[in-house]
Amino acid sequence: MGCARPIDGKAAAAALRERVAEASREFSRKALRKPGLHVVLVGDDPASAVYVGAKEKALHKAGMEGAVHRLPADTSEADLLGLVGKLNADPAVDGILVQLPLPAHLDEAKVLDTIDPAKDVDGFHVVNAGKLAVGKEALVPCTPAGCIRLLKEERGDLSGLHAVVIGRSNIVGKPMAQLLLAENATVTIAHSRTRNLPEIARTADILVAAVGRPEMVKGDWVKEGATVIDVGINRLPPPEEGAKGKLVGDVAYGEAAEKAAAITPVPGGVGPMTIAMLLANTLTAAHAREGLEPPKL
Ligand code: GUN
Repeated sequence: MGCARPIDGKAAAAALRERVAEASREFSRKALRKPGLHVVLVGDDPASAVYVGAKEKALHKAGMEGAVHRLPADTSEADLLGLVGKLNADPAVDGILVQLPLPAHLDEAKVLDTIDPAKDVDGFHVVNAGKLAVGKEALVPCTPAGCIRLLKEERGDLSGLHAVVIGRSNIVGKPMAQLLLAENATVTIAHSRTRNLPEIARTADILVAAVGRPEMVKGDWVKEGATVIDVGINRLPPPEEGAKGKLVGDVAYGEAAEKAAAITPVPGGVGPMTIAMLLANTLTAAHAREGLEPPKL
């Protein structure tokens, strides 16, 4: 019985943000302008408002220019596509992020595919998803890119390791599997219909949980010595009225930590890396748009 080392995503993200800020200053000296990141938030989903506020703070701290465009929940598709079109055409804009989920009357896929792929710092456009799938240089979704960075810092070479990814979303599960494949891991994608999920999870050297179900992955799903990456951020019901529910991941942390060698906590694991990778993607996009060599971050 061991006790896993917590993987400090906060520290890794702070270090990356520092490098991004330096590279951002260097970019501004060469391009005579700051990198520009624009975020679009439609409606008033409380979690989205918190995430977008954090992105807004981070972009200014990284020496970037940009704004959050806050639109009412009843914004029409034409108005939203109009704004995306304006940002596509604006030469000062390097990165465009439309916060998800969108209100139900808006077609997410249509909106995402209207973003210029060269400015798609979320990596959600089919062109970027396709490039990632065939192994071409692409803008890569921020959360899985952050997970890979943490994994490589933790394990070094991932070659030949068995990675089990639980979750098949376009935002995390699928791109995570592609990135692990690109690192020469052997990859299994599991999901809600997978049979014998605990047995499959137990074969993983690297176990990635991205399902959005609080504490679903139990201690006995984890192989001795595995590295566990918990992408989930779930708020439990509050213990009493007026209180705030506890934040937990998709992994039962205490149990899993008895088996794993290393594990990301929630909060403070994967979460902080997502914003740092968004800034890194914006910088990459800015360099590409100016015909400059991208910085090594
Ligand atoms: N909603 C939850 N995660 C994300 C993300 O990474 N990007 C965007 N645009 N919306 C999200």
